[in-house]
Amino acid sequence: MLLELAAQRRVLFFGGKGGVGKTTVTASTALAMADSGKRVLLVSTDPAHNLGHLFDRKIGPSPVRLAPGLDGLELDPELTVEKHLEEVTAALRRIMPIHLASEIDKHMALSRDAPGMQEAAILERIAEVVEQSSAYDLIIFDTAPSGHTARLMALPEMMSVWTDGLIKRREKADRFTAVLKSLASDKDMGNKTFGGAPHEIEEDRESRIRRMLNRRKQRFAGLRDVIADHQKTAFVIVLAAERLPVLETIELSEQLARAGVNVAALIVNKRLPDGLQGFLAERKTQEEIHLATLTRHLGKLPRHDLILAAHDVLGVEGLRQFAKDF
Ligand SMILES: Nc1ncnc2c1ncn2[C@@H]1O[C@H](COP(=O)(O)OP(=O)(O)O)[C@@H](O)[C@H]1O
Ligand SMILES: [Mg+2]
Repeated sequence: MLLELAAQRRVLFFGGKGGVGKTTVTASTALAMADSGKRVLLVSTDPAHNLGHLFDRKIGPSPVRLAPGLDGLELDPELTVEKHLEEVTAALRRIMPIHLASEIDKHMALSRDAPGMQEAAILERIAEVVEQSSAYDLIIFDTAPSGHTARLMALPEMMSVWTDGLIKRREKADRFTAVLKSLASDKDMGNKTFGGAPHEIEEDRESRIRRMLNRRKQRFAGLRDVIADHQKTAFVIVLAAERLPVLETIELSEQLARAGVNVAALIVNKRLPDGLQGFLAERKTQEEIHLATLTRHLGKLPRHDLILAAHDVLGVEGLRQFAKDF
């Protein structure tokens, strides 16, 4: 079921509460698709990166080969925010008067911890990855636990508004600078130097900043289009048959629907097998009660259950074995 779904898509997001087996299910799906002959990129956006542990190797912000046809990378929110702030600081320093440098630094230090900063930075990296990964047939994201993810998915819309605002402000500032410049040149009439080189460099800078903002805007718009294309992009929620994961799944799926995201499947992981006695049989009855709630709210969504294995799922062979039940 999961593999058929993946075979028809170009971008897949996996989300859900921590500990339910999200990374394991995501990585198994990615590996199975690579085994089927697709070129697959597996991307972790969860700050608690586990891909490296699962594949027992170091994975960083650029793609590394995990298996034939499968590359993986981990987006680091802290690093992404740093890079993002460096870019913005450099741009601001270029346009602001020198005596404001310390103000810029103060502003940037505050921005680092501003709410939504990490989400915005990660979202931009997701947009970049989607935009620059034409070499892959399928891109699979292992996302951070629930609430965070839905906010991310609703962000492209918000980010466009944000960049639009910046571009407008920039244009206003440009007009202001032009007025100042004309005043200055009137005053300097007496000792005017010819050649106009500094002037040109200034304009060059201005347009560079506007280009950067426009580029960012296009990137977010691109991601918004990808998410809105329900033929190509889908979201899969992984959960356990327990009370809180079920309630969070219902909420997450509603948030995602509001953000225009196509929730294509629910994967209920770590289900107890049949034929149990005593305590475990009782737990299994509990599972059925929670899943009845799930069905009441999200009965229309395709659902697939995966059995709790006796051992953890580890390494390429473990993941391959696990995907046999998909
Ligand atoms: N069906 C399963 N049977 C047994 N162990 C599982 C199963 N699914 C996941 N696990 C184990 O559960 C732990 C948490 O899984 P992980 O994928 O890291 O969760 P998440 O990404 O949702 O936090 C791992 O040790 C993993 O091997
Ligand atoms: Mg995980």
